[in-house]
Amino acid sequence: MEHELLLKNISKSFSGVQALKDITFQAKSGEIVALLGENGAGKSTLLKIMSGVYFQDEGEIYLDGKQMHFTSPLDAIKSGINIIYQERQLVYDLTVMENVYMENIPAKNGFVDYKNANARTQALIDMFGLPFKATDKVSSLNVAHQQMVEIIKAVRRKCPVIAFDEPTAPLTDSEIEGLYKIIRRLQEEGKIILYVSHRLQELFDLTDRVVVMKDGAHVTTVNTSEVTSQDLVRYMVGRDLGDIYDRLDRCTKMGKPLLEVKHLNNKWLKDVSFTLHEGEILGFAGLVGAGRTETMRAIFGADKLDSGQILIEGKEVRIRSPKEAMEYGIGLCPEDRKHQGLVLGMSVKENISMSVLPSVAKNRILDKKLEEDLADRVIKRFDIKTPTSQKVVKELSGGNQQKVILGRWISTNPKILILDEPTKGIDVGAKAEIYQTVHDLAKTGIGVIFISSELTEVINVCENIVVMYEGKITAKLNREKDHVAEETVLSAAMDHLNT
Ligand SMILES: Nc1ncnc2c1ncn2[C@@H]1O[C@H](COP(=O)(O)OP(=O)(O)OP(=O)(O)O)[C@@H](O)[C@H]1O
Ligand SMILES: [Mg+2]
Repeated sequence: MEHELLLKNISKSFSGVQALKDITFQAKSGEIVALLGENGAGKSTLLKIMSGVYFQDEGEIYLDGKQMHFTSPLDAIKSGINIIYQERQLVYDLTVMENVYMENIPAKNGFVDYKNANARTQALIDMFGLPFKATDKVSSLNVAHQQMVEIIKAVRRKCPVIAFDEPTAPLTDSEIEGLYKIIRRLQEEGKIILYVSHRLQELFDLTDRVVVMKDGAHVTTVNTSEVTSQDLVRYMVGRDLGDIYDRLDRCTKMGKPLLEVKHLNNKWLKDVSFTLHEGEILGFAGLVGAGRTETMRAIFGADKLDSGQILIEGKEVRIRSPKEAMEYGIGLCPEDRKHQGLVLGMSVKENISMSVLPSVAKNRILDKKLEEDLADRVIKRFDIKTPTSQKVVKELSGGNQQKVILGRWISTNPKILILDEPTKGIDVGAKAEIYQTVHDLAKTGIGVIFISSELTEVINVCENIVVMYEGKITAKLNREKDHVAEETVLSAAMDHLNT
């Protein structure tokens, strides 16, 4: 059956902030339509309206000519619209099958029919060629596979509309290929697919049309094959950004060794050694689980070491806790903003000042004015979209939450700044600003460790690149000298060079 989705004149405000203004677009069976826009443009809000999480103030949604009135997310799913959110919606302690069948596990004579449900779930898993079992606990799967469980859930529900809100943010390049295959398959089956991503390449790989939004309003809708990435950036940002890597005003001077890491070993790490210099931006590439986050956690005193040495400015140090790491001038901006970074229920201001409390206190009493000034500076520097610094972080868009946490760590004035996936979920314009900020910090003599799963980004932003695979360092490359190509990094990340 052919399907058609129509969104007509949708508007939505949140206590004074207009998140969506008169958005109209349509999509048909077998089409993949992208929603593109800067952080805070309204993409997630639009998807949440389509899925019954929020109600629009104005406008209508039609599926196959019938007007939809959702009273809840479950209601939207029953009506045929399934959204895979920016944040996972899984119950980690349950099995894959239990998650897939959540709201209606098949029953026989009033009892859950496990055999039948497991078999049906397994058939879906096999159809997508995935290597896990229906009876596996979701918590035992890696992020990429957890993501696939969300997709299987959507497919099982036979919804004609499936929307993806930044599905690739937690995935690495090779896992993205797997996701593409599945999405193309859904396309062939006649689903209507909506796709939100800040990685422009993905839009070219996958989508037929792009709906561009800015500040909640519709800018234009274009056929993907008829535009360039420069065009898309211009539509979404409102001006030409050119080649963001060429435009970078780079830090080119490297000073003395700041951080020397020698032969680190623990449960996850095997003989990890590297040196970070003053003014150096050292990239860490690798697949998910390669040990990059674990290396940083060990340095930061969050995980124990079995053996190894850490020197800061030539002196051996023993870092037993994150607090001690901070006293040595190390700042670590973690990958998982929701679990390790932000307090979602607190304000933007409180989240920013949290790690720098001594500097916004006078005689040990929090100075409201200093705190406010700091928050305002960070909001301005990173162009965080929020009406005031009092807004609770939970109500910011995904990318703007990421900027809050980056801003917080940069305000601690660290000597050594570790950034773990700092541009995850960040729009292209803001990415360019973050790259420049990192180079500006390096110019002041700070050493920056930059972990990223986006190869293009590591290769173009960092002076030197360390590649890891299964807890080991498999390559060390210099951007200029080695003319680093994505293939070189990728093969080291998969360890083809060393086997
Ligand atoms: N529950 C809420 N309460 C108040 N304001 C909200 C709420 N949800 C979203 N907003 C605001 O609506 C605007 C649009 O946010 P939305 O999350 O839709 O952006 P987005 O395009 O998905 O951005 P990103 O790329 O960063 O994920 C933002 O200004 C955001 O702060
Ligand atoms: Mg969003």
